[in-house]
Amino acid sequence: MNVCEYKPGLEGIPAARSRISYVDGQQGLLEYRGIRIEELAAQSSFLETAYLLIWGQLPSKAELENFETEVRYHRRIKYRIRDMMKCFPESGHPMDALQASAAALGLFYSRRALDNPEYIREAVVRILAKIPTMVAAFQLMRQGNDPVQPRDDLDYSSNFLYMLTEREPDPFAAQVFDVCLTLHAEHTMNASTFSAMVTASTLTDPYAVMASAVGTLAGPLHGGANEEVIGMLDEIGSVDNVRPFVEDAIANKRKIMGFGHRVYKVKDPRATILQELAEQLFQKNGSDHYYSIAVELEKVVEEKLGYKGIYANVDFYSGLVYRYLGIPTDLFTPIFAIARVAGWLAHWKEQLTVNRIFRPTQEYVGEHGHSYVPIEKR
Ligand code: CMC
Repeated sequence: MNVCEYKPGLEGIPAARSRISYVDGQQGLLEYRGIRIEELAAQSSFLETAYLLIWGQLPSKAELENFETEVRYHRRIKYRIRDMMKCFPESGHPMDALQASAAALGLFYSRRALDNPEYIREAVVRILAKIPTMVAAFQLMRQGNDPVQPRDDLDYSSNFLYMLTEREPDPFAAQVFDVCLTLHAEHTMNASTFSAMVTASTLTDPYAVMASAVGTLAGPLHGGANEEVIGMLDEIGSVDNVRPFVEDAIANKRKIMGFGHRVYKVKDPRATILQELAEQLFQKNGSDHYYSIAVELEKVVEEKLGYKGIYANVDFYSGLVYRYLGIPTDLFTPIFAIARVAGWLAHWKEQLTVNRIFRPTQEYVGEHGHSYVPIEKR
């Protein structure tokens, strides 16, 4: 007997009780562990926010320093993982490379201590530390270069940008990038988080949990919107073409990338934060052609679609910032993964404390009573 109505995509069905984050789409409110995202973006760092999400409270000064130090000293990846990555095809998508590399970590680190807090902590540190190194390493290797070693004197975001470009980044640009990571770190129950939790519920190792979530994030319906924003700005080409482009998109029911949100019906609070930072970045380091198109696009979309609750979302501005920092478009989703690892780890840890293996049911809509037909009679 079916006790619940079938809902495609489990839309609106609670799949967990969680204390990690909260979204109110009508008010434009996002909280991590009860703290508003605006406060975290202004005052915290990505690593401190990751600690908050995973352990449920802000660290003391000493706890944060220890955590940062541990992450700093686990950034290197084993040469066998580097060598494995060298065999990946250069034309492969960086998300596929990341998924394979994240899974490979499980070959090196044991999975048999999920009830040991030390094991959990080590896994958290290793994953947060090594995922950015693997993303940067694949980027350099696919260009035919050796990956560069992480630098212990650089903070989390500066080190990632350094490993990617082999240049020390401008401090303000690194700070804006760090805020981008904070803003993408967690967003309640979504496809990749659910995927992480289903995998976690089997009590497999945390590296398999991350690999599963990365694979889910890779799909164009989930992680890819900020890549599409850049393609769309390319297509628009000039400020003068913005209004005709929007009018044409609306007339043809074509979605304008980086606008609209399933949950937020007012402006995504993350977009508001990033818009201010992007403006400061462009003012400080010089604006570019894309930014002028983007500003006009936001104005026209608000004018034409604001009444439907369609405003710029976080991906509109993160795409612009990443492009401005010289990051190749196909790395935008891996960067989303670097950030979202914090949320996945928090849900993994929470899942372990109340674990019950996910085993939903189905409504069978097939037939019954057929007989097997030998192949020569079909
Ligand atoms: N451009 C133009 N029209 C839009 C857009 C858009 N970006 N988004 C929604 N609409 C219209 C849509 O055509 C529909 O109009 P009508 O009622 O006349 O048929 C109405 O708004 C409702 O659209 P919907 O697709 O039913 O709304 P949804 O809540 O299912 O969609 C969305 C949410 C994010 C999938 C959609 O807004 C979209 O595809 N946006 C573009 C892609 C994008 O930027 N995605 C990133 C989302 S933020 C990432 C994150 O939080 O993780």
